[in-house]
Amino acid sequence: MLRELMKRAYSGVSRRLHQGGDWFSQVGTLEWLASFVITARGLKQFTFVEVGVFKGDNAVSVVNTALGSGAAVTYVGFDLFEHNESFFASHPDDLAMYDLPEYAYFEFGSGGHAYAAVQRKLRTVLRDSDFILVAGDSTTTIPAHRLDIKMATVVFIDGCHDYDIVARDWNNIKVLFDDNNNMVVVFDDTTYSGVNQLISEIRTDGRPYGVYRLNFNQCVVAPYSLPLKERLMYRSAGLISKLRETTNRK
Ligand SMILES: C[S@@+](CC[C@H](N)C(=O)[O-])C[C@H]1O[C@@H](n2cnc3c(N)ncnc32)[C@H](O)[C@@H]1O
Repeated sequence: MLRELMKRAYSGVSRRLHQGGDWFSQVGTLEWLASFVITARGLKQFTFVEVGVFKGDNAVSVVNTALGSGAAVTYVGFDLFEHNESFFASHPDDLAMYDLPEYAYFEFGSGGHAYAAVQRKLRTVLRDSDFILVAGDSTTTIPAHRLDIKMATVVFIDGCHDYDIVARDWNNIKVLFDDNNNMVVVFDDTTYSGVNQLISEIRTDGRPYGVYRLNFNQCVVAPYSLPLKERLMYRSAGLISKLRETTNRK
């Protein structure tokens, strides 16, 4: 019933999502959010900023979704693009996320996250003039590239998950709201303690934006100045993905 109501409320979006696959399985994903924002706002230009690119597969997936939704796409990705010993020496908890046998994809050994490898991947979906890969510690590279990201449509924060770094990434991104009230910020890995702590603080810091759960591991921060129907859609997406997660567990 809830699903039907949401489909009626945004029939254009749901029609597009149905074309690309199962609507119920997509709602609350980053790809769903990109497609929803483009369609609901009628965007011709979509700027996707990703803090933490790793192998670039998430970038390619979101870029493809946005192109398929009819928008021109600009992508800006921030990453170390290497196994940076000195950075990870002071962030052992974050390093422990990688090279685990149960998550084979998240390994540093293959070199799949090297700058040249990621650049090759992005070139399969975008022209060189439509993407920027910024190498280095995001706590310094984000402020240095503020002009390149000030018109961001969606910022995906998924770099280092330790509180001190993710909080600095957020602080460096949230200043963009001053001139860009249409931006939304998605956090990945909200189950990690550092990210979880930061999200709790954002929820209660009295600022003019709301935090909406997208799925068990991601949330979106959206300014209250966005249309109510858009913010309601985020709220509903969280409920639908929760229903999906419960159904899948059974
Ligand atoms: C979880 S992965 C990103 C995954 C990617 N967003 C995806 O969905 O496939 C995090 C990435 O952030 C990078 N990273 C960690 N700390 C960083 C920092 N301080 N600055 C820039 N990149 C960082 C890691 O090297 C890694 O490539």
